[in-house]
Amino acid sequence: MITIKTRAEIEKMHAAGRVVENTLKLLERSIRVGISTEALNKLAHEYILSQGATPSFLGYNGYPKSVCLSVNDEVVHGIPNSRKLKDGDIISCDVGAILDGWHGDAARTFLVGNVDEATKKLVEVTRECFFEGLKFCKEGYRISDISAAVERHAEKHGYGVVKDLVGHGIGREMHEEPEVPNYETPRARQRLRAGMTIAIEPMINMGTWKVWQLSDGWTVTTQDGKPSAHYENTVAITEGEPIILTCSEEIS
Ligand code: MF3
Ligand code: CO
Repeated sequence: MITIKTRAEIEKMHAAGRVVENTLKLLERSIRVGISTEALNKLAHEYILSQGATPSFLGYNGYPKSVCLSVNDEVVHGIPNSRKLKDGDIISCDVGAILDGWHGDAARTFLVGNVDEATKKLVEVTRECFFEGLKFCKEGYRISDISAAVERHAEKHGYGVVKDLVGHGIGREMHEEPEVPNYETPRARQRLRAGMTIAIEPMINMGTWKVWQLSDGWTVTTQDGKPSAHYENTVAITEGEPIILTCSEEIS
């Protein structure tokens, strides 16, 4: 069942979204050569609590940390550990918070020091993929229009679109219906309606779309060892333009 949120409920999700956005900004400011992903997790955890919110990933299906930090060929769900960031790495930061019973969920991929041009391009195109999808976040379009737009933009650059993981509805739960795939599929035929809230999250690989699930039960990596980028926002569908609940900058 797809839940429709009222204006007031979307405002509560926006408040949760601001905590997520500010946590991502804190991570961006803190990222530097030599810092461990564990240290970044601790900063995020403490910031979320300081805002009166709860890190939604902690304990979710047994997930052991507060955020997901995925480096280079790690696609998503990297578990923070003693790994130290190196010059030229990219790090995908995925953050979720619950405030007043409502969820926000977003991800960014940040550069560590001097990153090669090809990898920078991957990070930039992954962000663009989200905004291509956003163009279809209006009443009357279908989820599959978002999916197709994301896929089209990634494939234009010869990148692999991850298929094993998808975006999702979000609200009182982190994962609600519908699924929001980053590739065209007849499953995504639901029509968008005002009051729907969804997380759109392109996961784009420089090489093959194929991924492995590591034996830690969480970390997803590319099969060819090439880098992967992730960009996600929580979005509210309205009668007019969509509202990005986890990003206040006017960018596209
Ligand atoms: N943020 C992820 C998503 O978009 C979920 C993270 S899985 C968790 O669906 F276990 F870390 F919570
Ligand atoms: Co998500």
